[in-house]
Amino acid sequence: MQHEPQGALPVKDLVSVAHLESDDIRKIFATARTFKAGRGDHSRLLRGKRLGMIFEKESLRTRFTFEIGIQDLGGSAVFLDHRDARLGSRESVMDMAKNLERWVDCIVARTYKHKAVTDFAKHANVPVINGLSDFLHPCQALADFMTLTEKWGDVRGKTLAFVGDGNNTCHSLIHTAAKLGANIRVCTPESYEPNSKVVREAETEASKNGCEVVILNDPREAVDGVDAVYTDVWASMGQEDEREERAAIFADYKVDEELMGLTAGAVFMHCLPAHRGHEVTAAVIDGPNSIVFDIAENRLHVQKAVMALLMTKTPIDTTGVTA
Ligand code: CP
Ligand code: NVA
Repeated sequence: MQHEPQGALPVKDLVSVAHLESDDIRKIFATARTFKAGRGDHSRLLRGKRLGMIFEKESLRTRFTFEIGIQDLGGSAVFLDHRDARLGSRESVMDMAKNLERWVDCIVARTYKHKAVTDFAKHANVPVINGLSDFLHPCQALADFMTLTEKWGDVRGKTLAFVGDGNNTCHSLIHTAAKLGANIRVCTPESYEPNSKVVREAETEASKNGCEVVILNDPREAVDGVDAVYTDVWASMGQEDEREERAAIFADYKVDEELMGLTAGAVFMHCLPAHRGHEVTAAVIDGPNSIVFDIAENRLHVQKAVMALLMTKTPIDTTGVTA
C-alpha cells in the first residue's frame, strides 16, 4: 500500500537524499537556517506530535539532536535502544511499524540492514527518517552540505574529496553533492569503493547539475586543489571484527597535515565519532580548518527542518534566509 506524504515535502519519508529534488534540499536548508537564526516562534509547530526512535546501534549526535529537536518544536520523543530494538527477532519490522504508527507521528530508525529502514517506510503510515543504515546516512550529509552552504554561500562548482571507506556516509555525500552541483572525488583503497549503483545514478544526476563524481584510489590525486576534505571511520558500526585488518589496508588514507597541504586551503570534515591517529591526525581535526563541530551543531537544525517538513504542511516563513 502506497502511503501519502503528510508534510510540505513531496515525499513521505527521508530514507535517501536520492529521493529528494535539489529544491527540496534547498527548502530543508532554508528552514533549518530559519530555525537556527531564531526567526519566528516555532515552539508549537509540532505541538502534541510524538517521535518514535528505534536505534539498533549506538549514537550520541543523532539521538541528542532528534530528541532536543522535537522538544524545541513542541513535541516529544520515545527512545528504544539496541537492547530492545533487535529488529526482526521478537517481531517483524512490518508489525513494529504497524504498532508504532498507532502511537507516534514519525519514526527515526538507526539499523544495521538498510532494508529494515525501507520496510519501516513501506509499512508505517507515518514519516520514517533514516537515522543511519549500513547503506546510507542522509541526515549527516544534509548537515554536511548545510554547513558548506553557510561557509561558501553556494556549493556549486566547489570540490569535496572523501578519503577513506566507501561507506554509508560516503554514499549519502555522493547523492547530496550531485543534487547540489558540487564536484565530489571519492578516494578509497581498491575493493572499498562506494556502491557502483550509487555512483552511476549520481553521475547521471551530476551531469544534469554541471558537476562530476570521480572515483580514485590515490589520496594525493584526490585532494589536489579541493575545497573540502572529508573522512569517516575505517570500520563502521557492525564491522568491529575487521578493525585491525582495515587499519592496515587504510594506512595510506590517513588525513594528515601533509595531505591537507595539497588542497586549496580546504576545510576538514568528519561525521564523528573520530579516531585521532587513525583516519585523521589530531593536528588536522583539532586544527583551524576543521568544521566538525559546526557540522554536529547543524545536525540539530537540519533534522528539525526535516521533521517539520515531513510532519506538517504548516508554512514556515523563510523570507530573507539564503540557502
Ligand atoms: N555522526 C553521527 O551520526 O553520530 P552518532 O553516531 O553519534 O549519532
Ligand atoms: N560510518 C560510520 C558513521 C557513524 C556516524 C558508521 O556507520 O559507524
